[in-house]
Amino acid sequence: MSYKFTIALLPGDGIGPEVIQEAVKVLRVLENNLGLDLTLNEVPVGGAAYEAEGHPLPENTLKTAQSADAVLLGAVGGPKWEKIDFSLRPERALLGLRSSLKLYANLRPARIFPALVDASSLKRELVENLDILVVRELTGGIYFGEPRGVETLPDGSRKGFNTLVYAEDEIKRIARIAFDVARKRNKKVMSVDKANVLEVTGLWREVVTELHVEYPDVALDHMYVDNCAMQLVRAPKQFDVIVTTNMFGDILSDEASMLTGSIGMLPSASVGGDTGMYEPIHGSAPDIAGKGLANPLATILSVGMMFKYSFDREEVDTKIESAVESVLDQGFRTRDIMQEGMTEVSTTEMGDRVIAELEK
Ligand code: IPM
Ligand code: MG
Repeated sequence: MSYKFTIALLPGDGIGPEVIQEAVKVLRVLENNLGLDLTLNEVPVGGAAYEAEGHPLPENTLKTAQSADAVLLGAVGGPKWEKIDFSLRPERALLGLRSSLKLYANLRPARIFPALVDASSLKRELVENLDILVVRELTGGIYFGEPRGVETLPDGSRKGFNTLVYAEDEIKRIARIAFDVARKRNKKVMSVDKANVLEVTGLWREVVTELHVEYPDVALDHMYVDNCAMQLVRAPKQFDVIVTTNMFGDILSDEASMLTGSIGMLPSASVGGDTGMYEPIHGSAPDIAGKGLANPLATILSVGMMFKYSFDREEVDTKIESAVESVLDQGFRTRDIMQEGMTEVSTTEMGDRVIAELEK
């Protein structure tokens, strides 16, 4: 059988282009080995697009993304663009892509590789075999709610405001994703809210509980977000799937990622629309850009998630994960995960090592 896929490549800023380059090497090897036919369309996004075309998400970039079977994104942002108007900041491109592509579900796995257990900031026994999936709502909540803005009051002082809003349907569809993925994992969902203070997350809790009736085989619990932040560092292995709002998910997924040793290791998938988007969860890291220090593994693992969720080829994801695991077992490390006695390698060397494993 022949598989033809079109992938939009959006390298973006900082270390984005370097990590995407390694992911492309992996894609080409997979194409060869698995007899795929891949079309890769590279377009600018974020600060790079602002420099080239005056907008972080040019029309052609959005069109290329919309017409692709999947999008692979590096990272956006950097100090150079921190002073420009909000509407033109690199980060707006990310939000624009998420909402235009209707990617309401963001899957962020925090899974520890055995070789990296000692790179975690927590004790070995707390994180060994850790495998959490954060399911973050991605196109609603306070990130998109209206009204929003900063106003000057009659007395000349300023007032800033954003709106946290969720419609029942938005809660229901993200909860459904969480229950569905939990079914393929350890069948435990923790819904995280602040129902003791915020009415909208009280509704969140109610809707998730109502939907749970359809999933009697999955255990559902609820937790306030402050407690969850604490439990993640106290006893992270109690969690399987965490489902939560856009902003709580943003914060908790960074926290969960660090338990695995480095934010440079974690991939993500944004799904729900016709075209899924895949990206490492780390940012553009301008301080190390262009130095060969970036860890390409999160982006390479994001390619795996692309095969799993967009192309329905989970075995390719498994293959990539095993290749990464072998490279780590052999002691190769980029700077961010470097430990005593290991061999430090550059961004491209790390990519080559993964490819060598895939070729075996
Ligand atoms: C993320 C990032 C983005 C977010 C920023 C860059 C807009 O932190 O993907 O987690 O807040 O969603
Ligand atoms: Mg974030």
